[in-house]
Amino acid sequence: MRTSLLLLLLLAGAAVLYAVATPTAAADGEWRPIPDVADPHVQGLGKCAVNERNKVANCGLMFSKVVGSKVQTPGGTRYVLDVDALRINASHKIYQAEIVDQSSSGGSGCKLVSFGPNC
Ligand SMILES: *[C@@H]1O[C@H](CO)[C@@H](O)[C@H](O)[C@H]1NC(C)=O
Repeated sequence: MRTSLLLLLLLAGAAVLYAVATPTAAADGEWRPIPDVADPHVQGLGKCAVNERNKVANCGLMFSKVVGSKVQTPGGTRYVLDVDALRINASHKIYQAEIVDQSSSGGSGCKLVSFGPNC
């Protein structure tokens, strides 16, 4: 009886320690949805993402619009965008692009982190 109680206490203590020692992805920040995807800045980032994608993959995508977006805080320069784009055969498809906004740090444009699905 006594040993099982002790074991339980040890387990509970370990669980608390584990929870304290692993702050959930604090280094990576938190993703916040952007309420106003119509924001020209956000739309511009979507266009930039499609342009960057076309440079590295021969997709011939045409940017249509950003339909969803979230931004990482703190920082506010890393975005995940749901981008509606036109393919060569004129059909629309939603792609997800992760980008780093480089327009605020003096430069212009964006750095493409990931883009999918494959076009
Ligand atoms: C356009 O091409 C994609 C990929 O090849 C295909 O999945 C889609 O069905 C095509 N759409 C039309 C309208 O032809």
